[in-house]
Amino acid sequence: MVDQKIVLALKFLLLVLFFESTFEQQQQERLNSPIERAALLELRSSLGLRSKDWPRKADPCSVWNGIKCENGSVSEINISGFRRTRLGSQNPQFSVDSLVNLTRLKSFNASGFYLPGSIPDWFGQRLVSLQVLDLSSCLISNAIPGSLRNLISLTGLYLHDNNFTGMIPSSLGLLMGLSVLDLSANKFTGSIPVSFGSLQNLTRLDISKNFLFGSIPLGIGMLSKLQYLNLSSNDLSSSIPPQLGDLSNLADFDLSFNSLSGSLPAELGGLRNLQRMLIGNNLLGGFLPANLFRVPSQLQTVVLKRNGFSGSVPDLLWSIPQLRLLDISGNNFTGILPNGSLNANASSAELNISENLFYGGLTPTLRRFLVVDLSGNYFEGTVPDYVSDNASLVSNCLQNSSNQRSLLDCTSFYTEKGLTFDNFGLPNSTQPPAGENTGKNNKKVIIWASVLGGVGLILFFVILLVLLLFCFRKRGTMTQGGVGVGPVTPVPSGSSPPPPGVSIDFSSLGDTFTYQQLLLATGDFRDVNLIKHGHSGDLYKGILESGIPVVIKKIDLQSHRKEAYLLELDFYSKVSHSRLVPLLGHCLEKENEKFLIYKHIPNGDLSSSLFRKTDSEDDGLKSLDWITRLKIAIGAAESLSYLHHECMPPIVHRYSKDSLLVMLCSLFVISFLLTITVRSLHLSFQ
Ligand SMILES: *[C@@H]1O[C@H](CO)[C@@H](O)[C@H](O)[C@H]1NC(C)=O
Ligand SMILES: *[C@@H]1O[C@H](CO)[C@@H](O)[C@H](O)[C@H]1NC(C)=O
Ligand SMILES: *[C@@H]1O[C@H](CO)[C@@H](O)[C@H](O)[C@H]1NC(C)=O
Ligand SMILES: *[C@@H]1O[C@H](CO)[C@@H](O)[C@H](O)[C@H]1NC(C)=O
Ligand SMILES: *[C@@H]1O[C@H](CO)[C@@H](O)[C@H](O)[C@H]1NC(C)=O
Ligand SMILES: *[C@@H]1O[C@H](CO)[C@@H](O)[C@H](O)[C@H]1NC(C)=O
Ligand SMILES: *[C@@H]1O[C@H](CO)[C@@H](O)[C@H](O)[C@H]1NC(C)=O
Ligand SMILES: *[C@@H]1O[C@H](CO)[C@@H](O)[C@H](O)[C@H]1NC(C)=O
Ligand SMILES: *[C@@H]1O[C@H](CO)[C@@H](O)[C@H](O)[C@H]1NC(C)=O
Ligand SMILES: *[C@@H]1O[C@H](CO)[C@@H](O)[C@H](O)[C@H]1NC(C)=O
Ligand SMILES: *[C@@H]1O[C@H](CO)[C@@H](O)[C@H](O)[C@H]1NC(C)=O
Ligand SMILES: *[C@@H]1O[C@H](CO)[C@@H](O)[C@H](O)[C@H]1NC(C)=O
Repeated sequence: MVDQKIVLALKFLLLVLFFESTFEQQQQERLNSPIERAALLELRSSLGLRSKDWPRKADPCSVWNGIKCENGSVSEINISGFRRTRLGSQNPQFSVDSLVNLTRLKSFNASGFYLPGSIPDWFGQRLVSLQVLDLSSCLISNAIPGSLRNLISLTGLYLHDNNFTGMIPSSLGLLMGLSVLDLSANKFTGSIPVSFGSLQNLTRLDISKNFLFGSIPLGIGMLSKLQYLNLSSNDLSSSIPPQLGDLSNLADFDLSFNSLSGSLPAELGGLRNLQRMLIGNNLLGGFLPANLFRVPSQLQTVVLKRNGFSGSVPDLLWSIPQLRLLDISGNNFTGILPNGSLNANASSAELNISENLFYGGLTPTLRRFLVVDLSGNYFEGTVPDYVSDNASLVSNCLQNSSNQRSLLDCTSFYTEKGLTFDNFGLPNSTQPPAGENTGKNNKKVIIWASVLGGVGLILFFVILLVLLLFCFRKRGTMTQGGVGVGPVTPVPSGSSPPPPGVSIDFSSLGDTFTYQQLLLATGDFRDVNLIKHGHSGDLYKGILESGIPVVIKKIDLQSHRKEAYLLELDFYSKVSHSRLVPLLGHCLEKENEKFLIYKHIPNGDLSSSLFRKTDSEDDGLKSLDWITRLKIAIGAAESLSYLHHECMPPIVHRYSKDSLLVMLCSLFVISFLLTITVRSLHLSFQ
């Protein structure tokens, strides 16, 4: 019994051992060739590799890091990421001579492992079985040896980020099996070898970040398997060959930071698998071809920034579903945003259309972009909620946004396009509000008011006295029946018309305007621009082509006295005073309608300012303080005095509705009371 059990146990143990040994043999081969073993040990010492990675006693195929074997021979060496021994790092060198005895070596990867020096010439002569050579970031310098043309089995050549100099050997074009060629971030000069056109198996070509110049070889367009083409950051010039449009498998297309010129060939529309199109920072220009972008499109990134492109952006581009980055900043693109109410969710997508000539309103197209830079365009209107808070909007013509362009800039841009600028949402004929510093200045005003108050009061009484005297003297000449409107438009005293054939000196009556100009200024005398119907004519607000706001009186000769406008013209030809609304010109070319053009005086009419409530600050105009009221009274008195005394013949203002009279009279009453009070004070002091 006991024996049987021992035998069974022994059998089981043997079975386990047998399985284990076969398992090990299947998983890990052993290095058979002593020559290869010697070569690896030699490489270990010439590169100064640590025994931690490559332990001397152990089998390289089964134990060493980064070694792979096939049929007992070394097939791959990967020393990327290794560190040297202290001794080895004292004098690192490109000493890999013993590789020549590894005759089955297919892949050598030393990326990031410093191998200062140049690639030895024998490399190409002897390592003919190599399929993958990765020497990226190895601090290698000097030119690529022409002998590399013999590595005809190569499928991948990675020389990225070294210090290679000289020309790219044209003979690399003989490595027909190459699928990946990465020469980026070196110091290659000269031009891209035309021979690259024969690398028919190439899927990835990266020559970026060198000093290459000349044009892009047309043959690149024949690399039909190409998926990645990066020629960025060189000094390539002339135009983009239309042949590149044949690269139907291309996903990444990067030509940015070169000196390419001309316009984009329409053939690039053939890049139907394109995901990233990066051609920013060149000297390209012209319009984008209409069918450059097509549906369905795989595009995720489109960067056309900092070129000289003009014209509009194809509508399709805005609505490509996968788009993650659209940067067309720094061009001369123009047009309005499409009003696609694309109900796409705000994603992480980024839009940069800054420094272009886009205009019009912001549309829901912006909804899908999380990062938005619209600065330096001519967008107008309000900023909708869906535009993210951190969007850059400066230097546009937008309402309620800070750092926008000037009214003049915006108006002239829109006028040039034959459009009307929305004037920042303000009524067409008024200036933008003066700003908020009136509030800050209030204290100053109070101090000044108290200082000037005394002086003002004295002045006021003097003028009052003059006026009172004058009032009493001329009471008889005041006419109450006449009616005037709007700007102070005086007529000579006496209602008799001027003698027929009165000669008016037109030279002193401002400019002669054409009817067309006035139509333009008032939007065809549209109702919104009507200020009010007056008895001597209808008053319209308008803006001249030069941007100057004006008030235009339209006198319909069928419903108004024929002579009224002549009287007024006659008056203006004789009279000018700083207190009178200046007449800028006239338009008498129409038979039945005559027009007088006055300077527009902002801030509305006097009566609404005088009787405004202090707390109604919503419209930016404040109730007038008493100093201002005093100044107005003085000004009005001056002009009345002028009209009555200095003018020949004397003139009476026709004020019935105008509240100027009400104000003056109430001021009279107040000052009368004041005078009486002061007098009685004076008396009581005596
Ligand atoms: C390994 O050797 C066997 C026979 O010698 C051969 O059939 C096989 O193709 C070889 N494998 C490789 C990867 O060379
Ligand atoms: C190469 O070796 C490094 C370090 O051992 C390792 O991280 C890396 O994955 C290896 N690469 C390949 C392609 O085997
Ligand atoms: C390659 O192996 C041969 C034979 O063992 C040897 O003589 C030669 O020195 C080796 N070459 C290198 C570069 O190690
Ligand atoms: C070389 O090794 C590095 C580091 O592991 C790896 O990133 C790279 O892809 C390898 N090169 C090749 C051609 O496989
Ligand atoms: C690269 O090469 C230049 C000239 O060949 C040399 O001056 C420079 O030191 C090198 N840089 C590195 C990092 O090897
Ligand atoms: C190109 O690749 C295909 C498939 O990968 C292969 O059969 C062909 O031999 C390669 N061409 C060259 C010239 O190596
Ligand atoms: C092209 O190369 C440059 C520099 O080497 C790099 O910054 C850029 O990301 C690359 N483009 C693409 C699309 O990978
Ligand atoms: C846009 O056009 C103007 C006038 O033609 C030109 O001066 C300017 O340089 C252009 N801007 C760009 C970025 O090309
Ligand atoms: C948009 O592009 C301009 C110039 O090309 C750049 O200055 C700006 O920083 C970019 N905006 C964002 C948000 O990246
Ligand atoms: C937006 O998100 C909602 C919910 O997350 C989802 O149901 C909807 O399909 C999304 N719309 C788009 C256009 O992706
Ligand atoms: C876009 O379309 C909507 C609805 O059709 C409309 O209300 C809106 O005003 C349009 N916006 C612009 C800027 O045209
Ligand atoms: C300004 O005038 C234009 C046409 O004359 C009109 O379309 C627009 O609505 C006006 N804007 C305002 C704020 O009155």
